[in-house]
Amino acid sequence: MKTNWFEEKIAQFSSIGGYQKPELIQDSIKLDSNENYVIPKQFQNDIILSARKNSDIREYPLGGVERLINALSKFTKIPSSMIGVGNGSDQILDLILSNFASKQTKILTSNPTFGFFEERCKLYGIPLITIPFSEYMKLDVEDFLKQSKNADILYLDSPNNPTGFQFSKNELQKLVESFNGLVIIDEAYGEFSDYSLSNMVKTQNNLIVVQTLSKSFGLAGLRLGYFIANKKFTDVFMKVLQYPYPLSTITIESGIESIEKFHVMKDAVENIKIERKRIIDTLQKYDTFEVFDSKANFVLFDAHSSYKRVYSALAEQGISIRKLGKIGNHEGCLRVTIGTKEMNSKFLLAIRDLLV
Ligand SMILES: Cc1ncc(COP(=O)(O)O)c(C=O)c1O
Repeated sequence: MKTNWFEEKIAQFSSIGGYQKPELIQDSIKLDSNENYVIPKQFQNDIILSARKNSDIREYPLGGVERLINALSKFTKIPSSMIGVGNGSDQILDLILSNFASKQTKILTSNPTFGFFEERCKLYGIPLITIPFSEYMKLDVEDFLKQSKNADILYLDSPNNPTGFQFSKNELQKLVESFNGLVIIDEAYGEFSDYSLSNMVKTQNNLIVVQTLSKSFGLAGLRLGYFIANKKFTDVFMKVLQYPYPLSTITIESGIESIEKFHVMKDAVENIKIERKRIIDTLQKYDTFEVFDSKANFVLFDAHSSYKRVYSALAEQGISIRKLGKIGNHEGCLRVTIGTKEMNSKFLLAIRDLLV
């Protein structure tokens, strides 16, 4: 009898489970995926419409990625030769992992870290060295410095998903400078935070800063991520590792349009930061909750033993947030995305009605 290696492989993969997407609640107020509803749908529709006019989808998008990279270069003030793109930053992270890591590679990261990244490491059998968050949902840079020599890759989402924590710029710079292996800093929520490390790429050859248009630009459905890294890595990534046509024509053209209108993104980010403060301040008034500070477009809070009740009561009212449960010694973590002022008010009202 033939050894059925194919079936064995399928069984091995199915035991992993895969990335947990949020529950789909029809017509809900969607505060579960860190999307950005502050940029109006009409603005995005206009961009797609104009992209459509500039597109001929009978053709492969030859030269399109290069024009997109030039637009990103103007926006980030980083040379085009140091910028690469991918089908969401998910795909960039995946291509880095599948080509630069193996079962022998040790990756140093936090616990929790970005769920997709962790799942991908499981899939490839890449071992993780994890540093837990403190009970105040903070990380201690000394813990990372101590473990640095034991790891080949350092991966940090800055700010972190799901805690919203970000090291001070000095701390993170110190950590990156002292690390000898490859450093991946995932700035998916960078625009909502206090700083970016993208300029450090000019002096640190081992640093890759990954960013995305999914969050601050409100383009999660477009699937457009990018990275900033040294020229040699960028060249090899784009010419050898990346697919010949990783982005659709519509993605490329709409991406260029949005980047050119980046002031719309900046205004939305300012608005979200103000609303973030309102949500934190309001949630903090309830003794039932422990609320953690956030540098991203979401807020994590521990609702202790009532977290399932809070989650379900909100879901019944058509408000979808993310149920995370146990993180460290916090039993009942919930994560809420900062939406428009109206969405946030509905969320806060529903919480008030539930608790008073
Ligand atoms: C930390 C982090 N990195 C990357 C991503 C993926 O973003 P993209 O939509 O660009 O694949 C997310 C999305 O939730 C995230 O939280």
